[in-house]
Amino acid sequence: MSSAGTIDTNCMTLTRFVLAEQRRAPDATGDMTLLLTTIQAAVKAISSAVRKAGLAKLYGIAGQTNVQGEEVKKLDVLANDLFINLMRSSYTTCLLVSEENENVIEVETEKQGKYIICFDPLDGSSNIDCLVSIGSIFGIYKRLSKSNPTVEDALQPGKSLVAAGYALYGSATALVLSTGQGVNGFMLDPAIGEFILTDPKMTVPSRGKIYSINEGYAGTWDDAVKEYVESKKNPKTGKPYGARYIGSMVADVHRTLKYGGIFMYPATKDAPSGKLRLLYECNPMGYIMEQAGGIASNGSISILDIEPKNIHERSPIFLGSKDDVNDVLAVIAKYKKA
Ligand code: AHG
Ligand code: MN
Ligand code: MN
Repeated sequence: MSSAGTIDTNCMTLTRFVLAEQRRAPDATGDMTLLLTTIQAAVKAISSAVRKAGLAKLYGIAGQTNVQGEEVKKLDVLANDLFINLMRSSYTTCLLVSEENENVIEVETEKQGKYIICFDPLDGSSNIDCLVSIGSIFGIYKRLSKSNPTVEDALQPGKSLVAAGYALYGSATALVLSTGQGVNGFMLDPAIGEFILTDPKMTVPSRGKIYSINEGYAGTWDDAVKEYVESKKNPKTGKPYGARYIGSMVADVHRTLKYGGIFMYPATKDAPSGKLRLLYECNPMGYIMEQAGGIASNGSISILDIEPKNIHERSPIFLGSKDDVNDVLAVIAKYKKA
């Protein structure tokens, strides 16, 4: 038996992985590596806070409302502060867009770097208090302006992303990342505080057996979504799909990536653009899904082709396995023609 026992003495940590990717890019300056290392630090700190939230009295409402008028939980505040403070002091970013801040945050000139990061520091906040999985989401762009960055720099379509990913605080903490060369999944080993590559080259199955949508709103969907969901529940041939809906986008998308199927947050009568935010929910998740061989659409065009008009805009989203998303898009197209 080796003296190292069960310890992998040559493990692929996330930092090692990112460094190796940097070596393959001839013009790389190391800034992206530093930025991703900083994101790792934020995610580790949030993960630790999530794990001891009950003991540290981090549950409950922080007594503020965010720009969407929703209740802000203590963990939301903590996660947002961690992201902002660590990004600002990494010397790699110039502009930050957070779900929790009404306006873009400009990094002090002397600390500015070339990247723009859009993030949802804590996704699935309605699940915090009942210990159901939550996450963090981020998307990274390069600045366009030569001089001081403006909000226009943050309004780039998803296809201009240079990297995106999410952390899932589930039964373990996972970090799923793409820098445009496929998708890789890492799991946090709490014993050493490192993310270890556990899911290299992740791909989404071309078809799944699960549909995921908040069915409580079925009465407010348009006819195409109603028909599609009905066709999965009562198919003319074959077995019905299973239904799963966690209510944390990160968890629902992670399951879709691993098992296949479709995740939908469509337009409803009350929310004609859906609920999920383009810059820091739909785009990063759409980028990951497309990098894994799946599809992310707003019902008409790829999520990644949408030209954002404002930083908190919303979009309907249909994302997951190619065949499943194409099925719903076909039903939508049929209704558009009629
Ligand atoms: P957040 O906690 O960042 O505000 O996001 C919650 C989002 C998303 O995670 C989830 O997919 C969706 O809200 C669930 O909304 P419904 O409760 O309307 O289904
Ligand atoms: Mn969210
Ligand atoms: Mn959030």
